[in-house]
Amino acid sequence: MSETVFAAPPGMPSAPTADDAGRAVLAAQELTRFYSVNQGFMRPQATVKALNGVSFTLAAGRTLAVVGESGCGKSTLARVLTLIEAPTSGRLMVDATETTAASAGDLAPLRTRIQMVFQNPYASLNPRKTVGQALDEPLAINTSASRAERGETIAAMMRTVGLRPEHVARYPHMFSGGQRQRVAIARAMILSPAIVVADEPVSALDVSIQAQILNLFMDLQDRYATSYVFVSHNLAVVEHVADDVMVMYLGRAVEHGPKAAVFGKPLHPYTKALMSATPAIKAAERRVKIPLIGELPSPLRPPPGCAFAPRCPYAIDRCREEVPTLRKLDGRLVACHRVEDIEG
Ligand SMILES: Nc1ncnc2c1ncn2[C@@H]1O[C@H](COP(=O)(O)OP(=O)(O)O)[C@@H](O)[C@H]1O
Ligand SMILES: [Mg+2]
Repeated sequence: MSETVFAAPPGMPSAPTADDAGRAVLAAQELTRFYSVNQGFMRPQATVKALNGVSFTLAAGRTLAVVGESGCGKSTLARVLTLIEAPTSGRLMVDATETTAASAGDLAPLRTRIQMVFQNPYASLNPRKTVGQALDEPLAINTSASRAERGETIAAMMRTVGLRPEHVARYPHMFSGGQRQRVAIARAMILSPAIVVADEPVSALDVSIQAQILNLFMDLQDRYATSYVFVSHNLAVVEHVADDVMVMYLGRAVEHGPKAAVFGKPLHPYTKALMSATPAIKAAERRVKIPLIGELPSPLRPPPGCAFAPRCPYAIDRCREEVPTLRKLDGRLVACHRVEDIEG
């Protein structure tokens, strides 16, 4: 298992310098994940490019928010980052360890360093296990703590996430949705991971509960300096939690940079359209109304050129022919041929 520090791809917004290179706890280089799908009897196999070349670095204690419509590859990215699925190509460094060439034996200890919180705590928690059992399992498997020590750790973690330790013998169905997500968060945090990947962790909750859970995530980050990859389709949520923002469209990043740059002055027409569709966003650019018309194209038959061109009011012939690559502009990366013309 080789210990490497990634050379950040050119122009990365949070590219580590020589001084803080060691602080990058998660780094992806040109990650892809393709799926072969059957299209039916007597029809050829097709390839879904669910994740099509995504790069970023994430420093300790920071949050990268990944945003985009349903189907743009966010959950696929989350599964690849958490080692649930191997990438088709590209490189992934988790907690300073290069995973791409690592053996299964090398990956096992790394899995405790990166944890996932899912959208639906009803599905991610075993209904037959009490909270205590759910929290004890990772400790019993991965630590040498005694039963009594594990009990103390569990009680402390329950308090930390806002649950009452005396509810340790309760089953998931005995909790509200918000409390159940607190259990899932406690389970993700109990081994002190370096990184937590949260995939739409508040989308299934009542709006009144969402802010409480977001604040819990932020309190835990303050306390443990955990790095987050926070996946959400909701820009208001992203604005609340992000340090850096990556806007995805059909498996690729179209805009990526510090929150202040992306929210203060979105440059990609897709980012602008997402913001126009989010009334809670007070960004200056909301005066530019771009309706999000039509649907996300199928990743089975991606349009040539820029994938957003069929829905983009600014598209010209070049956009339909030539795939725009990410380039550095105005403090972030953006993949659009037309930025200068639109902004000019
Ligand atoms: N196991 C799979 N097999 C085939 N296609 C998949 C698989 N998982 C995801 N996809 C496809 O990849 C694309 C991205 O999906 P996903 O990562 O779930 O997006 P998101 O989380 O942004 O909604 C979708 O078109 C989806 O249908
Ligand atoms: Mg998803």
